[in-house]
Amino acid sequence: MIIFFLFNIISTYNKMSIYNNKIIYDLHQTPVSLAKEIINSINWNDNENVCDPFAGDGSFYENLPSNVKKSYAEITKGIDFRDIDYKNIETIISNPPYDLGEDNRVRKNSFYKILEYFSLTPVKRIIFLCSQSCFNSITPKRLKQLHQNGLYIQKITICNCKKWYGRYYVLYMTRDVNMMVDYFINNFD
Ligand SMILES: C[S@@+](CC[C@H](N)C(=O)[O-])C[C@H]1O[C@@H](n2cnc3c(N)ncnc32)[C@H](O)[C@@H]1O
Repeated sequence: MIIFFLFNIISTYNKMSIYNNKIIYDLHQTPVSLAKEIINSINWNDNENVCDPFAGDGSFYENLPSNVKKSYAEITKGIDFRDIDYKNIETIISNPPYDLGEDNRVRKNSFYKILEYFSLTPVKRIIFLCSQSCFNSITPKRLKQLHQNGLYIQKITICNCKKWYGRYYVLYMTRDVNMMVDYFINNFD
């Protein structure tokens, strides 16, 4: 029990840093091989504006194809993802942080908050690598909200990353109506 507790403290500490007196979690970087595989699974248009809003060490950003125009945000480099003007950004691709480290509270899943933020921007295509707990945070009510905001999951690719927690999901989302991932809004007890 004590060993488990210590392990949790150490692994949490390893995944956080302090920036502007705020705790930034989830500094773990996507393996470059996985980022490249995801990038290769996507059709890229010439001169498309692509942004990684949580670039970290650049697993995605550095490996984007040469025919796109790229930009990034990264809080530890002084650029918050909300600092970017997404008016002309067509695609965002990233592994977003599990926790934005806001609201003075214990570690909390920010995935939906991030998704909702981007659903309200003009960005046409969103590709996010996420864990199962992030995927699980998309409740029926939240998926309904994303649909109302004009964002639909088009494809999910399942992948392994055993150095983390095992299974990860690549969500491909666009503005094209697609009810392949649907919901029942009621609760069933
Ligand atoms: C899970 S890491 C992924 C990094 C990189 N995209 C990759 O796939 O290797 C998430 C990154 O988001 C950054 N981050 C956290 N909060 C942020 C914010 N408000 N704005 C921009 N970047 C942020 C963290 O510093 C971290 O580098």
